[in-house]
Amino acid sequence: MAETFVRHDGVLHCEDVAIPDIVARWGTPSYVYSAGAIRRRFEELSGALGDYPHLIAYSVKANGNLEVLRTLAELGAGADIVSGGELYRARLAGIPADRIVFSGVGKTVNELAAGLSAGIYGFNIESEGELEELSRLASASGMVAPVALRVNPGVDAPTPHHYTRTGHAATKFGIPISDAPRLYAKAASLPGIRVRGVDMHIGSQILAVEPYQDAVAQVVELVHVLRSQGHQLEYLDVGGGLGISYSGGEGISARAFADAILPLLQGSELRLVLEPGRYIVGQAGVLVTRVLYLKEGGGKRFVITDAGMNDLLRPSHYSGYHAVEPVEATADREEVRVDVVGPICETGDFLALDRDVPRVEPGELLVLRTAGAYGFSMASTYNQRPRPAEVMVSGGEMRLARRRETLEDLVAGELDL
Ligand code: LLP
Repeated sequence: MAETFVRHDGVLHCEDVAIPDIVARWGTPSYVYSAGAIRRRFEELSGALGDYPHLIAYSVKANGNLEVLRTLAELGAGADIVSGGELYRARLAGIPADRIVFSGVGKTVNELAAGLSAGIYGFNIESEGELEELSRLASASGMVAPVALRVNPGVDAPTPHHYTRTGHAATKFGIPISDAPRLYAKAASLPGIRVRGVDMHIGSQILAVEPYQDAVAQVVELVHVLRSQGHQLEYLDVGGGLGISYSGGEGISARAFADAILPLLQGSELRLVLEPGRYIVGQAGVLVTRVLYLKEGGGKRFVITDAGMNDLLRPSHYSGYHAVEPVEATADREEVRVDVVGPICETGDFLALDRDVPRVEPGELLVLRTAGAYGFSMASTYNQRPRPAEVMVSGGEMRLARRRETLEDLVAGELDL
């Protein structure tokens, strides 16, 4: 794979654009994304699935920036959404409704109605109550809602943090696979509902193919049972979760993933739907920040940056690892062990702990790598900090993809009452 973030004369570039040129224009902290990297990842996955009928429904929660969504829409991607807000974004970016699946354990009536009137491909139903609500809504408006039930195959997929494990039995997500025949029968009997597929999602940042193999085998078995009971099933949504490397290596390979699950689907006549988020955008983005101050105390050295946990939550929330590097590499700098911390008034506000990085100076630029997924999308305005700018790079071109928030943005909802 062509390298996305590379150094020329020691200066880090995103594709052909020097990071300091981006900062000169739009400041820090900023997220920088590579359109080329996003395209390559999409094509790698789609290519590995070959001519097996499939839909890659990109998981908008990983990074919902409109430029990111437009880049993917142009390649024929669909979207996996979990809210009315994500539906709105996906449609605005030109993703056709018939390529959208609607996941999520707590969709409101308004959100279900928005999905219905948009004409989405399928609702991933997560509870009996939701199924009944959707039936009421659809039949009252003379519509038919296409549904898949999200089943839990009972696979405990190893993920780095227990917050991102979802396939096991004791989870708020989905329904137990053993309960599926009863609920499919109920779905088929309800007005306004058309059973169309089966859905699963076993977790996030999964680096092995075996949990997928195990889960897909169980779900294909369920499809046989359901078909023998008369249900017409046309697709299998295997969710997302494909893991990436945060330390420069390889994550799960699209080829290995395809080789593991496609044989289980041969002859099933099930269209394969996938909901990858991180796999597509994770490595395609960095967060650029500026060093404000250096400080020592209690035997520790701190590098204080202008980005904090409100800009990139993963280190403090999931103990997520993001490589930290100076944007301009200079020869013969010694490495020092530091905590890279933000300006927020919380001890938990850090970007990296006990990390060996080249000695940096105040005013210098740093990047946090592999921040394209769950970076900006989890950013907040905590401590009344405007959220960062987002910049999209394609070849030698850079484009502002979202302007930095202003102080006026922070109070707008309180002033225009
Ligand atoms: N489909 C469903 C139903 C999901 O719940 C998720 C992620 C995905 C697809 C996409 O998963 P991915 O391919 O990106 O792993 N904020 C956490 C990750 C939370 C994932 C939540 N669900 C993080 O920063 O690691």
